[in-house]
Amino acid sequence: MKDYLQLLLENKAWAYEKEYINPDYFKEMAKVQTPRFLWIGCADSRVPPNEITGTLPGDMFVHRNIANLVVENDLSLLSVLTYGIKYLKIKHIILCGHYGCGGVASSMTDQSFGIIDGWLKGLKDLQKIHVNELKKVTDPAERTNRLVELSVLSQVEKLRNIKFIQETWESGQELYIHGWVYDMSTGLIKDLIQIEK
Ligand code: CO
Repeated sequence: MKDYLQLLLENKAWAYEKEYINPDYFKEMAKVQTPRFLWIGCADSRVPPNEITGTLPGDMFVHRNIANLVVENDLSLLSVLTYGIKYLKIKHIILCGHYGCGGVASSMTDQSFGIIDGWLKGLKDLQKIHVNELKKVTDPAERTNRLVELSVLSQVEKLRNIKFIQETWESGQELYIHGWVYDMSTGLIKDLIQIEK
């Protein structure tokens, strides 16, 4: 069978099961979304936000890109943040990186990946800032993982400095930014940082 046909079959089974358990499930779901969390994560197929956090459809507003980067002029991310915070009134932004991130690892090489090089430029700049600390880590996988953590801290800082986020805090609206790292080898998330202004 063609791989993609399996997806459509699985979808039918899933929809049937949901409706069997709760006949109003889709009627209720279609009415409105009231997610409690805004997730910014890597596009990596091994880091599915709902599955690793036990959340369900409707719980999480999601933005994903390669290496979970916050780029100040990224209209897509800024739109997700604006809609999620201003209109959906989400209180928790979760920026989640992951160990073994291919995007972070490739930013540490001299190899070119075409258009992706431009996207990963911020990670190259971050390496320059932390060059001495990173040089001390001799194992390449561990060095990547340290940059993964440094990047999460840096992306959280970038989020905090976005004008619209600052204005949200100034208005008295409750908003927390969390920096997490997911470990694919254990399935566990490390809680690195939480800020509330
Ligand atoms: Co990744």
